[in-house]
Amino acid sequence: MVLRSLQQYLELMKLSGINEIFSLKNDIQTDNSRTIEELKEKYKNCRKCPLFKERTNLVYGEGSSSPILMLIGEGPGGEEDKTGKPFVGRAGQLLTKMLKAINIERDEVYITNIVKCRPPQNRNPLPSESEICIKYLYEQIELLNPRLILLLGKVASVNLLKKNLKIDEFRKEVFFFNNAKTFVTYHPSALLRNENLKKYAWDDLKKLRIEYDKILAEEH
Ligand code: URA
Repeated sequence: MVLRSLQQYLELMKLSGINEIFSLKNDIQTDNSRTIEELKEKYKNCRKCPLFKERTNLVYGEGSSSPILMLIGEGPGGEEDKTGKPFVGRAGQLLTKMLKAINIERDEVYITNIVKCRPPQNRNPLPSESEICIKYLYEQIELLNPRLILLLGKVASVNLLKKNLKIDEFRKEVFFFNNAKTFVTYHPSALLRNENLKKYAWDDLKKLRIEYDKILAEEH
């Protein structure tokens, strides 16, 4: 009986365009007794991987404590390392504009990264670094329980979804991570390097806005 309804549920998900479902339940132990700001304070001196050696600030994340939408990037760059805030450099300013273009303010969402400390010379995080740090992200997702996740770029997508697809293959699919319908778009740095990609990112953003509106309608 339960099995049948589970199967029906999965079929329904497929029909609504969701390709894969990921659950966190066995992966983490969430410290539910604390708020997101308390967790940020708790981890600020983390030394679990070598990235701590060169950081100025650990960039845990920032934004609403009850966001509908969570944005996940790769890792802090120079400005982020200096200020302790995610996405505040050139790519971050573009990201803020992208959100504004679909009528979403930065403080409505929660913004974070796969790794919380800046990799030297802004290189990609090593698998060993992501593997350690992603536990913090799992905890953030579990605690904040967003209904939508937008993954920015391939590094964020590969690390969260554990699938080695190309960015355009990811963009075509819809995933379900924990309780969040999960989409992929280009990293804003890629859009700064290649203006031609902006029209595709705009398509992704419009899709996201439709989902955002559906959730707002459900909640009111
Ligand atoms: N790029 C990222 O992936 N994250 C940031 O916070 C800034 C730039």
